[in-house]
Amino acid sequence: MQPQFATSSRTPDTSPAAAIDAIIRSRMSVRAFRPAPVPRSLVSDILDVARAAPSTFNTQPWRVYVLAGAARAALSQKILAAHEANTHPQFAPFPTPQPTDCIARQNEFGGLLYKALGIDRADSMGRGRQTARNYMFFGAPIGLIFTINGTLTKHSWLDYGLFLQNVMLAAHTRGLATCPQVSFVRYQSVIAQHLRLSPSDAVVCGMSLGYADESAAVNSLSMPREAVDGFAVWEGFEE
Ligand SMILES: Cc1cc2nc3c(=O)[nH]c(=O)nc-3n(C[C@H](O)[C@H](O)[C@H](O)COP(=O)(O)O)c2cc1C
Repeated sequence: MQPQFATSSRTPDTSPAAAIDAIIRSRMSVRAFRPAPVPRSLVSDILDVARAAPSTFNTQPWRVYVLAGAARAALSQKILAAHEANTHPQFAPFPTPQPTDCIARQNEFGGLLYKALGIDRADSMGRGRQTARNYMFFGAPIGLIFTINGTLTKHSWLDYGLFLQNVMLAAHTRGLATCPQVSFVRYQSVIAQHLRLSPSDAVVCGMSLGYADESAAVNSLSMPREAVDGFAVWEGFEE
């Protein structure tokens, strides 16, 4: 899962574009990690690169809780207990009704994910166990919780996405793997209490960070993408 920088076996393309393209294309969400620790200095380097993200009027709306060891385990334990009790309302990241093209892609994603995990989609217990693995950060040594001032609106959340992508790419190019996780949002209140968030703070997502378990089948997934002509509208070109 290391980024591949060469595009041809004969004349490797060593241009910056080829290097950056390879990093972007080879990043993927990893859902099984080795327990090997990640030093604080490496996480700090990643965040130092990520903070170069642009933001509306340079407002930089991100705040990151970096959890390792007992701190990571303690949060996981509290969320897992809440998940087991099943008393928190479900969190839906999409509106109802969901746009039909989104539904189709989400269904395709679910089919591929559960096939790789060997879980029948009708097996709700099996799917529930997979959801719970999110809260253990899929075994990663570092758990990241990203928060924003919840009074901010969509352009600040857009800024946040740029920052998150920087985190994932900076990690990837250092041989580390990530999985961004909206599943943590359901347990905003548990996280808020545990991390002593201020009442205005909203959890954007969590993220697992560590070294990929290359032997796990779930990490060989390659999620499909719409071709450019499926989403780009071209106007005014001569040819
Ligand atoms: C904001 C965000 C939240 C996500 N939440 C989860 C999650 O809770 N659990 C999970 O397993 N994957 C999660 N994912 C990963 C997506 O499923 C994944 O990015 C998508 O299927 C494309 O696959 P790729 O990242 O491997 O290219 C999330 C991705 C994003 C960007």
